[in-house]
Amino acid sequence: MKSLFAIYLIFAFISGITFAAGSMDLDEYIEGMNVKTSDSKSLQRGARNFFNYCSGCHTLQYMRYNQIAEDLRISEDQLIQNLIFTDSSPQDLVINNMLKEDGDRWFGKAPPDLTLVTRRKSPEYVYGLLNSFYPDDNSPTGVNNYVQEASSMPHVLWDLQERFTKEEYSRFLNDTVGFLVYAGEPIIEKRKSMGVWVIGFLLIFLIFSYALYKDIWREVK
Ligand code: HEC
Repeated sequence: MKSLFAIYLIFAFISGITFAAGSMDLDEYIEGMNVKTSDSKSLQRGARNFFNYCSGCHTLQYMRYNQIAEDLRISEDQLIQNLIFTDSSPQDLVINNMLKEDGDRWFGKAPPDLTLVTRRKSPEYVYGLLNSFYPDDNSPTGVNNYVQEASSMPHVLWDLQERFTKEEYSRFLNDTVGFLVYAGEPIIEKRKSMGVWVIGFLLIFLIFSYALYKDIWREVK
């Protein structure tokens, strides 16, 4: 018994350490965060933000342009005019022409693919990262970041953050992060509505089986 307890303590201790190391205190940087993946207007704005401000460096290598357009109810014309800035066609994957070696050379670390970033890290992490740049003369990019220490990502939203009110910037981040959550799990909304159907089906099934059960037992008794 004693040894079991000792093992338990060791596990509790180890998980305590890993938890402490893995969870950074983001609270300060996610004030105003309110991501809504069920709001298709917000997702559309998020897509526009991503393709205007992020896609020059970051890819969504598991997504196709036309899938995004279909899911977010964006017409093919709008897609071609407003979201595709490369020579890609609608059925192509969202990748760019930056080679990893060039990315490493230009930035010190190539910009990672963002398809799964909200799952690999968290939506809070992405929001916090975009919300916590601060000027730093010792950094090659002129900025540093509270959420990702010594980040090699430049503060590409600098102008925007200057121009926008706090609420406007917050909305911009919510839309953008919402779009990335969608990209990490494109069927998120379909799955939710599917859940409602499944539960409805089970309820009807339950009623039928109960009726059947009554019927059968009436004859037995
Ligand atoms: C000029 C190029 C550039 C642009 C534009 C850019 N980024 Fe980055 N981003 C980078 C680089 C480089 C890194 C790698 C930073 C590091 O690890 O030090 C990065 C890292 C990140 C990370 C961290 C990923 C991780 O796995 O930790 C996120 C999230 C991110 N960027 C989101 C965005 C979003 C959202 C936009 C658009 C608003 C954007 N970036 C625009 C260059 C860019």
